[in-house]
Amino acid sequence: MKQSELLALLKEMTLEEKIGQLFQSSPEFFKGSKNRGEITGPMKTMNIDEAIVSNVGSVLGATGASEIISIQKEHLKNNRLGIPLLFMADVIHGYQTIFPIPLAIGSSWDLELAEESAKVAAKEAAVSGLHLTFSPMVDLVRDPRWGRVMESTGEDAYLNGEFGKAFVRGYQGDDLKNDLDRIAACVKHFAGYGAAEGGRDYNTVDVTEWQLREYHLPAFKAVLDEGVKMVMTAFNTVKGIPATGNKWLMRDVLREEWGFDGVVISDWGAVLEQVNHGVAKDDKEAALKSIIAGVDIEMMTPTYVHNLKELIEENKIQESLIDEAVLRILELKNELGLFENPYRAADESLEKTIVFSDEHRQLARKLATKSAVLLKNENVLPLTSSQKIALVGPFANNTDLLGAWSCNGSTEEVTTLAEGMAEKLAENSLFIAEGCDIETGTEKQWETAKEAILKADVVVLALGESSDMSGEAASRADIKLPKAQLELIQRVKQLNKPTVTVLFNGRPLDLHGVIDTTEAVLEAWYPGSEGGRAVADLLFGDENPSGKLTMSFPYSVGQIPVYYNAFNTGRPKGAEDNPEKYVSKYLDIPNAPLLPFGFGLSYTNFEYTDAHLSDSILNENNSITLTVNIKNTGNHRGEEVVQLYIQDRHGEVVRPLKELKGFKKIFLDPGETKEVTFEINEKMLRYHHFDFKFTSDEGEFIAYVGPNSRDVIELPFKLEKS
Ligand code: BGC
Repeated sequence: MKQSELLALLKEMTLEEKIGQLFQSSPEFFKGSKNRGEITGPMKTMNIDEAIVSNVGSVLGATGASEIISIQKEHLKNNRLGIPLLFMADVIHGYQTIFPIPLAIGSSWDLELAEESAKVAAKEAAVSGLHLTFSPMVDLVRDPRWGRVMESTGEDAYLNGEFGKAFVRGYQGDDLKNDLDRIAACVKHFAGYGAAEGGRDYNTVDVTEWQLREYHLPAFKAVLDEGVKMVMTAFNTVKGIPATGNKWLMRDVLREEWGFDGVVISDWGAVLEQVNHGVAKDDKEAALKSIIAGVDIEMMTPTYVHNLKELIEENKIQESLIDEAVLRILELKNELGLFENPYRAADESLEKTIVFSDEHRQLARKLATKSAVLLKNENVLPLTSSQKIALVGPFANNTDLLGAWSCNGSTEEVTTLAEGMAEKLAENSLFIAEGCDIETGTEKQWETAKEAILKADVVVLALGESSDMSGEAASRADIKLPKAQLELIQRVKQLNKPTVTVLFNGRPLDLHGVIDTTEAVLEAWYPGSEGGRAVADLLFGDENPSGKLTMSFPYSVGQIPVYYNAFNTGRPKGAEDNPEKYVSKYLDIPNAPLLPFGFGLSYTNFEYTDAHLSDSILNENNSITLTVNIKNTGNHRGEEVVQLYIQDRHGEVVRPLKELKGFKKIFLDPGETKEVTFEINEKMLRYHHFDFKFTSDEGEFIAYVGPNSRDVIELPFKLEKS
């Protein structure tokens, strides 16, 4: 449709029809849905009748070509002007072929593979009838108690922006109208959701505007510049006002300052939740606040459909406000080609061959091997196929490897670690036992495990959190492994066999009792559909671990939030063994996290030498080059993530000790050396000043290069301005 036709369509719509476009409901409201019932349940509680349903603009959570085609078909008969529905869902780390969780994908530092995974997810979702995914989530996460850290790529705004862009490229491609294998993307949760106080989900967020602009907003801006089609609001408050009714956030920043002209959707029920927040007295006031603030689509609560008309009649808002929102929604439908082809790529027979294809599963396996992080290895890994191995623990033969938000993934399709390892070993070399369940254990389970261990040369302990222990509404105050598993480790230790721990979980854990007790630790996260095979590839050295943490692992929960790009403070502790009293420190634990941002081991070693800058003075018009040689000094082929950090020594406002500014992933054969270069320019030194101006300061800087944020080589330079 041409823009003039869209405008003509808008003109023809009644007010009820327009308001209907602003409501998103679940599929069971629609004729043609497999769960369609009488007008009871949610439809009745929400006071939604058939007339309202016939005007609805979009659907959340319908899946499968058959259902989506059938709902669309019925809807087109019932909607007076034949405006197609937009089908949206949470395709977060894969549709049916499930990739590792986003925090794990972040640990791969591999933007191409991340993009590839989103492309596959889009292809499976599109053929199954979906038009848009509620991904990527680019919330900055610094508190591992928060269950939703698994959905983010970590604690660095720049890295989250880079991954967010890669996901958007993968989902959307560059021509949604013609490329039917792609779907639209929605970046979330705008904004600040990751800063929930105490790491408790949905809790208050109170960060300064400066912190928002410097840390929480940049990843959104990056993804918007990549062309993401939709923005989802957050549940939390921003500067004292819930994001979903926050005019400053959505009109002033998002639309005016950044020029975003796509659709804004609320999070689930977040419009009405303004009543609970205590900023709206009832659903009518909630609707008023959100429409004024710029929420176009209300997800799953009916405050718009029940109140907007009255609010116009009472002159509280102008109809033009509704028109603006509807036009944006119609434009998105048009960009997806839905007016010409309301079923888009939905195809029941193709769905059977495309979804969960071998090719897609291969990619899932590859990405899982790149996402795991080797945290410790004292000469036990890799294992060999001639060893006798006891595989013990609640995750030994467990299909719960998909993690939360695994959409249409099925645990029945998961390869377990036991299956993956059995493929590598001769018969009668693998002894499998649970040892305990995730949270409890019995003596009988232990006795069986002990028998298995006594027969083996080496023990692989497969431990972790069940997938419902992270994700939405899954915050934990104690982020250690559950007691039963910590006890299992202690018991295994008594048997004096070399032990490797493999962890399946969704957050940085407090690893005391794990890392100090076993010889090797591999953080496998929730590795997805092909997880068992991927982890076996790593354990046996068919793949060499190359993942690096994108979220610090705290020393203990009392340190949280602990993140690499912290400020120096006025009384820095400096060296951990500084005995001074009046410095910023704890009496009982170190300041440093247990494992820093960027950290991850390999089966080989990389040596960094000859690091130097092309010049020690930088100005606004030139750039300088940092060069470093990396040598593989070990016996395995391997990949290394070379990281560039910069520190501004004296800013107008305080500056972090280090900030990630670039990274390169290189592959090296044993004995091979590669030169890696990074260009440093003035733009990279800009930050938000007190007045929020984004500029740089003249003066001294330090560039750091290294294998993680802790073990770096320092190279000072100066910025001179004319
Ligand atoms: C979550 C969103 C999600 C939405 C739709 C909400 O509870 O916060 O991230 O996209 O549900 O399922």
